[in-house]
Amino acid sequence: MIVAIDGPAASGKSTVARAVAQALDLTFLDTGAMYRALTAAVLERGCALGDGESCARIAEELDLTFDAEGRVLVDGRADEARIRSAAVTAAVSEVAAHPAVRRALVSIQRRVAQDAPGVVAEGRDTTTVVFPGADHKFFLTATSSERARRRALQEGRPEEQDALRLEIERRDAFDSTRADSPLVRASDAVAIDTDGYDAAAVTALILARISAPAHDQQHNSGDNA
Ligand code: DC
Repeated sequence: MIVAIDGPAASGKSTVARAVAQALDLTFLDTGAMYRALTAAVLERGCALGDGESCARIAEELDLTFDAEGRVLVDGRADEARIRSAAVTAAVSEVAAHPAVRRALVSIQRRVAQDAPGVVAEGRDTTTVVFPGADHKFFLTATSSERARRRALQEGRPEEQDALRLEIERRDAFDSTRADSPLVRASDAVAIDTDGYDAAAVTALILARISAPAHDQQHNSGDNA
């Protein structure tokens, strides 16, 4: 089974997708972490962010795998602090916009899904490009101020909420307007407005939707499952 969950920056996709994967005993596939790991390597090697060919070459050379918890490993090692750093967050959208980069990472994502009994994938294009035939598709939204509030809380930086909101809005704009695989809601994805819901509630909505009989799913393709 493939469950695909897309949405904008800091919409809670990772937390929710990880919990759904755990509940269903499926592999969690954090595609954003792959673009982040690649961007960390691009920065380390001093490659220009706008040089798509060189970025794609690095993507092809990198040994990207996942551990049992779904953390991305580069050459067998996890470095969450590095891939979530402000420098990587500021650069990742530009690296992720190169079509050759996307081809390289999408092929790894499909291979992970082929090798697993089932996956819960989260990202910007998992419902539209990576797994267009996914069994279940969801699109999480929340206002940028709510997403900044959650991210500031999560990172223990309440005083930086405004700066985080601007960064989130900048990435939303970049990810939604790029030519290759822009962030859009797939017409057959269930939209869930997560404002006012915590991760546990959104996870419960998704699990209920997945276990609902097929005819209910067709009837109820509107918002908030
Ligand atoms: O979800 P995230 O913040 O970890 O994603 C980091 C960046 O990676 C995001 O700004 C755009 C890019 N990305 C993408 O282009 N396609 C995906 N499937 C996942 C992430």
